[in-house]
Amino acid sequence: MLLEIKNIDTYYGRARALENVSLGIEEKSLVTILGANGSGKSTLLNTISGILKPAKGTMIFEGQPISSLSTDAIVKLGISQCPEGRRLFPEMTVMQNLRLGAYVRRADREGVEKDVERVCEFFPVLRERRDQFAGTMSGGEQQMLAIGRALMCRPKLLLLDEPSLGLAPLVVAKIFEVIQEINQSGTAICLVEQNASMAIKIASKGYVLESGTIVLAGTREELQEDPKVKKAYLGV
Ligand SMILES: Nc1ncnc2c1ncn2[C@@H]1O[C@H](COP(=O)(O)OP(=O)(O)OP(=O)(O)O)[C@@H](O)[C@H]1O
Ligand SMILES: [Mg+2]
Repeated sequence: MLLEIKNIDTYYGRARALENVSLGIEEKSLVTILGANGSGKSTLLNTISGILKPAKGTMIFEGQPISSLSTDAIVKLGISQCPEGRRLFPEMTVMQNLRLGAYVRRADREGVEKDVERVCEFFPVLRERRDQFAGTMSGGEQQMLAIGRALMCRPKLLLLDEPSLGLAPLVVAKIFEVIQEINQSGTAICLVEQNASMAIKIASKGYVLESGTIVLAGTREELQEDPKVKKAYLGV
């Protein structure tokens, strides 16, 4: 198991947002987290990446406990997050934004340039727009840049928080295609999505969160056939 989470609780002040959450992400797999607004999906990703600290439970990444590590240390181990809402630097160029994603190994210039090339192979539009300010790009291009930036630290596990949010169907299809390519290149992905039907299609397994607890876990086929998932998330 690449990442194994056992029985974590995460609080905002005194409000518990995650309760007794356990899940596992295998190496090179694609795992999706489904759930309604406010169910705790972003809280879960922010807990994995170290932005939030769990009050109890364990998180083991490649055999190493990570719950008490800083976000920087977690990035260095190989977990990288593409946050909800993208959080780009709008007045910096595409290339500047990308290079910031490699901040944990700035000294490795050659490696960073190689990774810029790799990201531009996934998203050729970023090469075309290299000197454009991020804030002037379309929503879809900005999402591609945000994913590209998260790839710049060569993650073993990429956390994606609602990459399709607010984008037109054609752009969403393109982004999902590249998410699959990234996964096929050997990067494990934890994908949080409102677009449940598309997320389940490309996932090997998934979890459903409700009010901060996991109420269902299953393989792609199990989720696709689950009556509750069908009704609540697939609209069939
Ligand atoms: N900074 C915060 N302070 C206090 N409560 C918060 C904070 N962020 C989130 N919460 C609460 O924690 C719960 C889970 O929120 P979270 O953002 O993880 O949900 P989500 O599943 O990502 O929702 P969405 O689909 O809207 O992005 C919600 O009840 C939310 O109000
Ligand atoms: Mg969220």
